[in-house]
Amino acid sequence: MFDVRRFVENSLEEIKTVVGEKRVISACSGGVDSTVATFLVHKAVGKNLMAVFIDDGLRREGEPEFVMKTLRSLGIKARLVDAKNEFFNVFKGKTDAEEKRKAFRDIFYKAFGKVCKEEKIEFVTQGTIKADIIETVKGIKSQHNVLEQIGINPKSYGYKILEPLRELFKPDVRKVARELGLPKEISERMPFPGPALSLRVLGEVTPDKISIVRKATEIVEEETKGLGAFQSFAVLHNDMATGIKNGKRVYGNIVTVRIVDSEDALTARARHVSYEILMRISERITREIPSVVRCLYDITDKPPATIEFE
Ligand code: XMP
Repeated sequence: MFDVRRFVENSLEEIKTVVGEKRVISACSGGVDSTVATFLVHKAVGKNLMAVFIDDGLRREGEPEFVMKTLRSLGIKARLVDAKNEFFNVFKGKTDAEEKRKAFRDIFYKAFGKVCKEEKIEFVTQGTIKADIIETVKGIKSQHNVLEQIGINPKSYGYKILEPLRELFKPDVRKVARELGLPKEISERMPFPGPALSLRVLGEVTPDKISIVRKATEIVEEETKGLGAFQSFAVLHNDMATGIKNGKRVYGNIVTVRIVDSEDALTARARHVSYEILMRISERITREIPSVVRCLYDITDKPPATIEFE
């Protein structure tokens, strides 16, 4: 049985011992994992922590504002770094899923490394959890934040890594969030991948494609709010399909909707969603996003599929 109180006590003690009076920076995306890791370190070292939200241009609607507001309301010093151009530049011409993940990881650490130098810090906190490590080490995917475990030396990026949640699975991270008194919007938040919407644009990632999938994601999230699914989201395909808009035959985008139940993200089941919900989503996506002509629902479990498409 996971003893959450003990975990928090031990973590605070360990962080204090390891960090001492040195300065720490935390890469916080606003997800459960990175926010819990950030808050734990904040509790341990107080003003010596600075949280950084890298705006990579790949986040959901309203996300940068939400994250900054949340961090500040928790009393955490926070800085937003606009790196949208750098991220979109690095994706140019890249269509392979693993190549895109690696590009994301590299540009993420470059952008972040730059902030670390400016802030003259020594430690970096991130919200890596056990499932991230297991799947990256197994070679299922290159999780953007797993470095040491696959033999990449963080020192080559210029700092030491602190990963207080590396032994936990998601349900225990949520318990820690509740124990720490974090708001429900954080502790019960749907998982969202670090590389964000870049995993949900199949093929090359461009600002236009991101804005399509961002809008589709907003619609799916609104329409599935009450379902309590583990994750629900939209994916933009690379292929096009024929459709009819305003009485004219057009060649347009295809969006897939994915709604899954899971405990720890290692396996997942596609949700048997009511047809009314699916129809409402399809109707809204094809009406509110002019370029989309087709909306599909993914009925594949994990395995054999993964939760994300890339
Ligand atoms: P897959 O697609 O591998 O996803 O079944 C399992 C869980 O992990 C999330 N995911 C990621 N999270 N960085 C993250 O922080 C990543 O690179 C990444 N890839 C997948 C995914 O959303 C799901 O919850």
